[in-house]
Amino acid sequence: MSDDDQQSGRPWWRSAAIYQIYPRSYADGNGDGVGDITGIRARLPYLRDLGVDAVWISPWYVSPMADAGYDVADYRDIDPLFGTLADAEALITEAHELGLRIIVDMVPNHCSDQHPWFRTALADGPGSPARQLFHFRPGVGESGELPPNDWQSAFGGPAWTRTSAPDGTPGEWYLHMFAPQQPDWNWDQPRVRAEFESILRFWLDRGVDGFRIDVASLLVKQDGLPDEGTLPPGAPAPHSDRPEVHDIYRSWRRLADSYPGERAFVGELWVSPEALPRYLREDELHTAFNFPFLQAAWEHGALRKVIDETLTLHAPVGAPATWVLGSHDATRVVTRYGRADTSFTERHQPVPVDLDLGTRRARAAALLSFALPGSVYVYQGDELGLWEVEDIPLALRQDPAVQQSGGTDPGRDGCRVPLPWEGDEAPFGFSPPDAGTEPWLPQPPAWKDHTVAAETGDPGSTLELHRNALRIRRAEPALGDGPFAWLPSADGVLAFTRGPGFTCLVNLTPDPVELPAHTEQLLASGPLTDGLLPPDTTVWLRAV
Ligand code: NOJ
Repeated sequence: MSDDDQQSGRPWWRSAAIYQIYPRSYADGNGDGVGDITGIRARLPYLRDLGVDAVWISPWYVSPMADAGYDVADYRDIDPLFGTLADAEALITEAHELGLRIIVDMVPNHCSDQHPWFRTALADGPGSPARQLFHFRPGVGESGELPPNDWQSAFGGPAWTRTSAPDGTPGEWYLHMFAPQQPDWNWDQPRVRAEFESILRFWLDRGVDGFRIDVASLLVKQDGLPDEGTLPPGAPAPHSDRPEVHDIYRSWRRLADSYPGERAFVGELWVSPEALPRYLREDELHTAFNFPFLQAAWEHGALRKVIDETLTLHAPVGAPATWVLGSHDATRVVTRYGRADTSFTERHQPVPVDLDLGTRRARAAALLSFALPGSVYVYQGDELGLWEVEDIPLALRQDPAVQQSGGTDPGRDGCRVPLPWEGDEAPFGFSPPDAGTEPWLPQPPAWKDHTVAAETGDPGSTLELHRNALRIRRAEPALGDGPFAWLPSADGVLAFTRGPGFTCLVNLTPDPVELPAHTEQLLASGPLTDGLLPPDTTVWLRAV
């Protein structure tokens, strides 16, 4: 595996196609109904054949799983649900042998309330050095019965939970920007900084090629933890995008650069467009997850705007853009694009969905994203055209967002349903034959037509579309990182070139449109009709 992109001689992360594995839902090797590392290892050849360059694995660390592994109790070991450290090491080696890079998830804003340092902090009590590593505060009100400030958890409700002594006496409160089981680290403490650098080294020493940084802008909090409500309008948030956070990433970058090979960071950054490029300066993170693209409506104006803005923001710092249509946090793209409102700002309770329309658009969007300059992400199952499972019974839903929001948020379980690999009925090869267990979330019977086996060899399938697209993307020197220019086109059509010889056209109008002059049709997301490009369809052309 070379460190540089074979055609361009530029670092791999500037052009990579990266597949996100959500380990509990990818493949179950031991038959307990939950995906694991043995399952991933067995299905690595599938990823090689799909044609991706790298795999991002959502957290696999020791965790009580209050937030599906984003509550880490030991950053240097694997949760027994997923396997062992030796399994993880074997996976990294085998992936490398197949030419696949491994990106692991790093969760530095918070840990689990079962992390030994947090247990010690609780035990040692107010004023102890152990409590300094987190954000403990007395409450306000006569007897400290109110949270220390007005910050809200991302899952709903106050971002504070009150502790109690073993005899039940109420004590200090601690900060958690997510679930109560996810206490926030105090990044003002050198010991926290040193600990995370040591954790990064631990995984770099094991050969990982990069890290996806969970909620990367949240780590540093404003001194004094002021109420949000009392800040003047337009003041920067007290818990996100603090200027000091950049020192952390500069230091991480130096650390990564001290290792051989090209190790890369991708930030999960929910920040303003003005703030984003600051994280992508050449001595900070390499890339950032493109949320505005994921959230954009399937409309000509919205897409053109988000593409322009993305490229404009990245250009001054020389960082490559990323193009993202799905993740374990977002409603599946087929479902989003099958609704009347195709934009995505938050998860809704189910609304009517036209899955055929959504599928057509999601296929067109995949070809669009693969043709744009930079790197691209594929969330597991999107290559099969899976849709959001919206009818999971409430009792089976596991996302803490469901409970914490009082049920107003349907949660993220619907995009986390175990993958269908083969066969006519659940568990569709997700677990070994005769395992006798149910997958941890129920799979829809209709997925029998969307298993890897059912779609393999079917030229009209979404899987074969992805395989073809990724093969061409790899072979085509113009694709990946590199120049981009819009071409003149009819209203409602996106047309761009990626250098001489490659044109991409997306029809977002309700009518078929003519193709520009070309010598060859490389790939289309759906059949052309009488030589015309139908609505909601993308085509790649060899231009004259
Ligand atoms: C972002 C992760 O993607 C999400 O799944 C998680 O719940 C939060 N960060 C908290 O770690």
